[in-house]
Formats: sequence, C-alpha cells, structure tokens
Amino acid sequence: MRLPHVLLGLLLLCICLHDAATAATDTVSPGNGLAGGGRLVSNNSKFALGFFKTDSKSPNTYLGIWFNKVTKRTPLWSANGDSPVVDPASPELAIASDGNLVILDQATRSVIWSTSTHANVTTANGTVAVLLDDGNLVLRSASNASDVFWQSFDYPTDTLFAGAKIGWSKLTGLNRRLVSRKNLVDQAPGLYSLELDHNGVGHLLWNSTVEYWSSGDWNGHYFGLAPEMIGAVMPSFKFVNTEEEAYFVYTLHNDTAIVHTAIDVFGQGLVGIWLDSLQDWLINYRQPVFRCDVYATCGPFTICNDTAHGDQICSCMKGFSVRSPKEWELGDQKNGCMRNTPLECESDRNQTGLTDKFYSMQSVRLPDAKQVQAATSEDDCSQVCLRDCSCTAYSYWNGICSVWHDKLYNVKQELGAASDGNGGTFYIRLSAKELTSVAMKKSAITIGVTIGFAVGASTATLILTVILGLMIWRRKGKCFTRTLENGQGGIGIIAFRYVDLQRATKNFSEKLGGGSFGSVFKGNLSNSVTLAVKRLDGAHQGEKQFRAEVSSVGIIQHINLVKLIGFCCEGDQRLLVYEYMPNHSLDVHLFKADDTVLDWNLRYQIAIGVARGLAYLHTSCRDCIIHCDIKPENILLDASYVPKIADFGMAKVLGREFSHAMTTMRGTIGYLAPEWIGGTVVTSKVDVYSYGMVLFEIISGRRNSSPELFQDGDYSAFFPMQAARKLLSGEIGSLLDPNLHGDVNIEEVERVCKVACWCIQENELARPTMAEVVQVLEAFSSEDGRAALANQRSPLRQKFDVATVQVGEARRAAAGLVQGTS
Ligand SMILES: *[C@@H]1O[C@H](CO)[C@@H](O)[C@H](O)[C@H]1NC(C)=O
Ligand SMILES: *[C@@H]1O[C@H](CO)[C@@H](O)[C@H](O)[C@H]1NC(C)=O
Ligand SMILES: *[C@@H]1O[C@H](CO)[C@@H](O)[C@H](O)[C@H]1NC(C)=O
Ligand SMILES: *[C@@H]1O[C@H](CO)[C@@H](O)[C@H](O)[C@H]1NC(C)=O
Ligand SMILES: *[C@@H]1O[C@H](CO)[C@@H](O)[C@H](O)[C@H]1NC(C)=O
Ligand SMILES: *[C@@H]1O[C@H](CO)[C@@H](O)[C@H](O)[C@H]1NC(C)=O
Ligand SMILES: *[C@@H]1O[C@H](CO)[C@@H](O)[C@H](O)[C@H]1NC(C)=O
Ligand SMILES: *[C@@H]1O[C@H](CO)[C@@H](O)[C@H](O)[C@H]1NC(C)=O
Repeated sequence: MRLPHVLLGLLLLCICLHDAATAATDTVSPGNGLAGGGRLVSNNSKFALGFFKTDSKSPNTYLGIWFNKVTKRTPLWSANGDSPVVDPASPELAIASDGNLVILDQATRSVIWSTSTHANVTTANGTVAVLLDDGNLVLRSASNASDVFWQSFDYPTDTLFAGAKIGWSKLTGLNRRLVSRKNLVDQAPGLYSLELDHNGVGHLLWNSTVEYWSSGDWNGHYFGLAPEMIGAVMPSFKFVNTEEEAYFVYTLHNDTAIVHTAIDVFGQGLVGIWLDSLQDWLINYRQPVFRCDVYATCGPFTICNDTAHGDQICSCMKGFSVRSPKEWELGDQKNGCMRNTPLECESDRNQTGLTDKFYSMQSVRLPDAKQVQAATSEDDCSQVCLRDCSCTAYSYWNGICSVWHDKLYNVKQELGAASDGNGGTFYIRLSAKELTSVAMKKSAITIGVTIGFAVGASTATLILTVILGLMIWRRKGKCFTRTLENGQGGIGIIAFRYVDLQRATKNFSEKLGGGSFGSVFKGNLSNSVTLAVKRLDGAHQGEKQFRAEVSSVGIIQHINLVKLIGFCCEGDQRLLVYEYMPNHSLDVHLFKADDTVLDWNLRYQIAIGVARGLAYLHTSCRDCIIHCDIKPENILLDASYVPKIADFGMAKVLGREFSHAMTTMRGTIGYLAPEWIGGTVVTSKVDVYSYGMVLFEIISGRRNSSPELFQDGDYSAFFPMQAARKLLSGEIGSLLDPNLHGDVNIEEVERVCKVACWCIQENELARPTMAEVVQVLEAFSSEDGRAALANQRSPLRQKFDVATVQVGEARRAAAGLVQGTS
C-alpha cells in the first residue's frame, strides 16, 4: 500500500491554514484575542503564529509557530501537541483573567491549554503575549517589556530556534530538550529526543533512555563527533557552561536566513536551509545519516532497509504483520509488527505436541540487546533458545551463541553483514504452524540472498575478509565502538589494532603516496595479503575525514570504487585500510614519461570505468555521494588496469531527497567547477566537471593547468580551449599525447574530446549526468549503440548536439578557471 501524498515531503509537513483575513499584529492583549484564521506575525515578518491543522481530514487543531514566508509550511513549535482542539470546537487564544495566556473553546469557554505560569502574574497589572522577531512567544507585563513570565523558548517542541537555548538551568532544574513529533499528522510528543547532559554532551535518545547518537565533547568550536557543524553556511554554535546553567545555542550569520534545526518524526536530527530559488528545504546536515541507525525506527519485529525508499524502509519479519496499519501509513512505524500465530510454547496447555521452529535470515545486522550463552554447536544454541519461551531469536557465529529475548529491535538489512562478525545468520523463532506456510518460500529467498552477497563482494575480497576476520583480535577502537554497533555498524569492515598495522607496514616504512590529510603506506599481512594503509594526520581535519571516509566508503561497493577493508581508531591514531592497487594512480602513467605508457584502448576503458564508478556514486548507491575531488591522483589502477576511484574523504553524502549540497569548498585547483568559486550550492555536476578535465588529460598526457601553458596571460594554449577549437576545426589529432604515436581510434578520441567539452560547460545544467556520459561512451564502443545514437530523435542525441553547439562556451569556462587559479 502506498502512503498518502503527505509523506512525500518525508519530514517537512505542509500544514493547512485557515485564511488569514485579519491584518497582522504581533500581540495578544486582554480583550484582543486570536481566533479562527487570525494570526500574529513578528515585526520582521519572519515568524507567524496561529491555529493550524496538519491534515484537512484530521479533526485536530493546534496552536503553533511557523516561518511566515516558507511555502512548505513547517511547524516549529506547537503549544498543545498532546491536547489538540478537536472539531467542532473552535479555539481562541486569549489572556485569561489570571493573566495567563490560554486556549479556550469558544463555545464552552473551557480552558484547553494554559501557560499556567506560577510567576506572580497578578501583580503585573495586565499581561500581553508578543511574538518576537526571533520567533519567541513571550507572556509579559503590559507595562514593562522586561518583565517576562513565560516564554515558548523554554518549552521547545521539535525545533531549536536560533538564539534559543537547549540545556539545563542548574538553579531551577528546567531541562530544555527537543522532542520529536509522533508522526506527520499527530503533533503529540514522540519517542525521540535531543538533549544535553550535565557535561554539555548532546544525545539523541529513544524513550528518554536509549542513546543512539552522541555529539561528543565540546572542544570550543564544535562537538567532537560532529565536526560537520563547522562550515561556511552552517550557523555558528556556542556552548555555555556557568554555575547557573549549561546550554547550547546557535546564531545565524544573517538574520534573514531561514534555518530549521530540528529532530524529525523518524528520530534523525537535521539542519535544513530554505532556498527561495528552489522553494524547498535543503537538508545540509543529518544525524544519524541513515534512518536505520535510529534506534527502533521501525519498531519491533521489523527489518529496516536503508536502500529502500520512503515508506518502504520498514517491513515486517516473516510471520509478522503490521500492528497499527493506520499509523504505519503516516510514517509512524514505531509500533512495529506482531506475530501472526502465537508461539507453540505459549499454547503449551493445548498439548499440541508441536515445538517452535526457527526461520533463518541472512545478511542482516543483528540487534544490540543480546545475551551470550554457553553452547558448543549451532544445534545446541537453538535448544538453549527453545528452552526459554521468552527467547525469540538466536545466532551462532564463530563459536558464540547469542540469544535475544522478547521484542526484537533494530534488525537491519545489509549485504555483507556476515563478514564482520556482527552479522551472520539470524534465526527467528516462529510457531511450527507459521513455518510450514513459509517453508516453501524460504529456500528461494536464501538462494537469492546468497547470490546477491556473492555478487556484492568479489571473491578475493571475501576470502581476504575471512582471513583477516580470523586473525585479528577484535578489539574495537573505543571512540568507534558506538558507530560500529549502533551507527554505520555491520558494514563488513574490520577494526584493526594499531600494532598489527604497524607490523604490517614495517613501522610505516614504505610510503606509496600522500592523499588528502595523510600518507599512504604499503603493508603485508602474513606475507600473503597486500594492503594500502592510509594514516591520517592529527587534528580534527583528520578526524572529520576519517569519519567521512569510513561512513561513505564503508557502505558502497562497486568494481570502479576502491574498497575499504578496515580501519583503526586507537587513541590519536586514525588509519584506513584499503585493498592494494599494484598499478598506482592514473597521474603516474599520464604525466611521468618513464612509466608504462597506457595505450589508447586502455585509456578509453579507464574513461568508461571512472564514469561508471561516478554514475554509481551519484545515483545508484543508497544516498547520493558527491566525490568532490576527482583528479588523476584519485583514480587508482588494479593489476588489470581497472580504474578504481579513491579518496572519498571529501565526499559529501546527501540525503536521498535532496540533490544539492551546501558545503565548504573542497577539491583541487585545476579540477574545480566554477560554482565552487561562485556560490555555495554544489551538485553532483561538480564531479562531472572534474571528470571532463581528467578526460582532457587522458587525451593529451599532460596537465591542463601546467603553468607553462599560459604564461603572460595568454590562455589560448590552455588545453581545454585548444581542444574545443580543434574539435570544431576537425584537427583533433594534433592534441594527442605524443607517447601514443598516433596509434588511436580517432573516432573515439573525438567522442572523448566532445564528452569532455560537454562536461566542462560553465552552466552546470548544460553538463551531462555521469549516467549520460556512460551511455555515450559505451554507445560508441558497440555497433548497436552507435546506431541508437545516430537516431536524431533520441533525447540523448538531442542533448549531445546541443553540447556541440556550446563548445564555444566551454572556452569561456576554461578561461574563467585559469584566471581563478592564477
Ligand atoms: C512592533 O511594531 C509595532 C509598531 O511599529 C510596535 O508598537 C511594537 O512595539 C513592535 N513590537 C516589537 C516586539 O518590537
Ligand atoms: C503575589 O502578589 C501578591 C500581591 O502583591 C503578594 O501578596 C504575593 O505575596 C505575591 N506572591 C508571590 C509568590 O510573589
Ligand atoms: C494599572 O493599569 C491601570 C489602567 O491601565 C492604571 O490606571 C494603573 O495606574 C495601573 N497600576 C499600576 C500599579 O501600574
Ligand atoms: C521591569 O521589569 C524588570 C524585570 O522584572 C525590573 O527589573 C524593572 O525594574 C522593571 N522596570 C520598571 C520600570 O518597573
Ligand atoms: C518507554 O519507557 C516507559 C518507562 O520508562 C515504559 O513504560 C514504556 O513502555 C516505554 N515505551 C516503549 C515503547 O517501550
Ligand atoms: C542577508 O541576506 C540578504 C539576502 O540574501 C542580503 O540581502 C543581505 O544583504 C544580507 N545581510 C547581511 C548583513 O549580510
Ligand atoms: C531493500 O530495498 C531495495 C530497494 O528498494 C530492494 O531492491 C531490496 O530488495 C530490499 N531488500 C530487501 C531484503 O527487502
Ligand atoms: C488453545 O486452544 C483453544 C481451543 O482450540 C484456542 O481457542 C486457543 O487460542 C489456543 N491457545 C493458544 C494460545 O493457541
């Protein structure tokens, strides 16, 4: 069943408003209440307050605050989330005779909600409620604006306003915390919260008890585990800890910016920015990055699948069905699923004579709350579970028998989960009756999963992983334990000990090269497996890159992307371990004459391979990843010269629903798209640009940006410009790397050159997607493909033709780039 359209916005729900007929004021005073469609608007017009419904079919009306100019209305605060005004009652916001601000049922005059302040309101000689410019609703003395009795900033719902505090008052014990809403329609408090502890560490909690994400300690600039908080477009954060209070607050660089910092109904914390140009929210930051890493986001007895979309993320385990279908459809899946058939052990009195059976699931990340039991075999382990009626699942891996009791939370679908020891086969307990009905399907599923797994990880890697898995002492780095088990856990990568890597690399003696933020060393494990070990330089830059790399490279697998095998995180040491690439990086072959010259056919295959890897990053893996630093140094070649894109340390992982990233500038001069210099919003088209620049270098065998090429302000020698010119005049041959001795397929060279020009269009919209690049390059390597592209009416052909027309513009882009770098 599909979800209603309200879910398409996922977390940002549109609220239905009554028409505001009355002229806007920012104050409610005695005798001047607010009813029906009336609203308060702050003096700067940024915020509005009024009654709203989340769904026209729902009987519930809430009093809330939202951004006045945001067309996708997003409630930022609500007064009466757990006591809505229910139709047909019509509400009024008024100052009561005791001075409190109240919501009244207009018909019965009964109080539905009140600020119920205990302050001495009565002495104030009248109070007023004012919606201030920062979105704070205050109840204050009518005659003295500094005499405030109550403010909405002290009772936040799911949003942290700029300038509002989250944290503790040590004097009164008041704890300001963010609490998620129950679902997209119901504004009642949900199960997730974001709060600060007494040391000022931020925690995301489930049901106020189970932590699933922590910010780490405040280091004066940002929380240790959230370095992404620093960035040109991110607001500036401040943590204050005094004798009276400990709180966290942020301010905007520009008060006109519309920034939404909140915890959504799924339990993910986010920072969104409203872009007028897009008329949409851009989520700039999200923690945890993946929804399946939120504790119990799908409720008990479910499987969470992060590769699925929107409403498909949660599904019931075999033998279970959705407990509350109505809420489930509203994105509130926290009630999870329930058994179709009671366990036999529960119906023991019926003397059925049947025992429970187990159903096996593979490629899942196992839930946390387990008990380890003594058992000598898998069969023994299943008997241990059967003896206890509250035991609902077991797993036997590497001689360890783990059993789970009662509700099963946080089972996550994951290819490759078996290899890191946190996975393996998971057996859930079902009634024998239930199992008979699923037994037929079972074998088919197991085969499907097994094949999927074998395809996902190359055999060599699989063997390697098993060897490593057996020999490595499995102590997990302290700082990463959480991420491994709770966060991007079970991603099939290995936690190495520092001493093992030190030994493997002979104390870091054989340096292979220097990547961003660190050096890469060659290593050997038991003389059979060769590794590339990247040691990150100290400081927090390294930490940020480390986290980015583990979380992005760790989850993706593609033949044209380098594989992360493991990492080490001990004390200050941060190391990343990759498969070793015997043929170094592309720059070595292109720019260093004494090395092997790549023939044209290899170059063409490399161009296609890199395009495929990028296309996968941009579209196929579960979240869009922008590499941000495509250059020959980051294209590695394996033993058969298959290209592998490396160095995802700068990669920007985007939520699926957003195609833009706002980000601080990354990348390497010479390959940077103009929008890096001009603005702040970048898309995957920056990689397309850099890829185009690399294509030129593949053709010419020299750097586009070699300084000798454009001395004295003469940019005409700049290779992309020459290429564009020669492409038009049909003299492409003269551009070729002399080392190729003209031994090329000139038609292919022309295509590559044309694609390169297409990729470096100044206007990012005019550039192709990487998928289109793959299509074009592959089409030219087959008869059928060439025929398809010869069809004038094919959309691809039409776009490609436009690109040719715009080659001239590429020159301008090229010139702009040179000026930008000199
Ligand atoms: C808003 O503007 C009105 C009219 O200019 C003024 O009376 C009122 O005090 C202002 N309110 C605030 C909170 O500044
Ligand atoms: C409130 O004000 C009344 C009248 O001025 C006074 O008698 C009373 O003590 C005050 N109560 C508090 C709690 O301050
Ligand atoms: C209370 O308000 C009334 C009318 O606005 C005014 O006449 C009176 O002086 C005020 N009293 C105090 C104590 O401020
Ligand atoms: C206004 O209220 C503040 C805070 O209660 C108080 O410190 C101040 O003296 C008051 N000003 C006047 C003019 O009453
Ligand atoms: C949340 O915690 C409370 C008490 O701490 C407990 O009664 C309740 O069942 C818990 N909720 C869920 C969904 O487990
Ligand atoms: C804030 O942003 C607005 C709109 O982008 C701009 O017009 C204004 O100049 C900026 N103000 C400051 C102080 O930067
Ligand atoms: C997870 O979701 C993806 C994308 O919808 C789908 O292809 C895959 O089959 C799902 N996995 C399972 C086990 O349902
Ligand atoms: C036991 O048997 C009775 C009658 O056949 C049935 O109604 C009941 O649901 C059974 N109990 C369980 C727990 O299966």
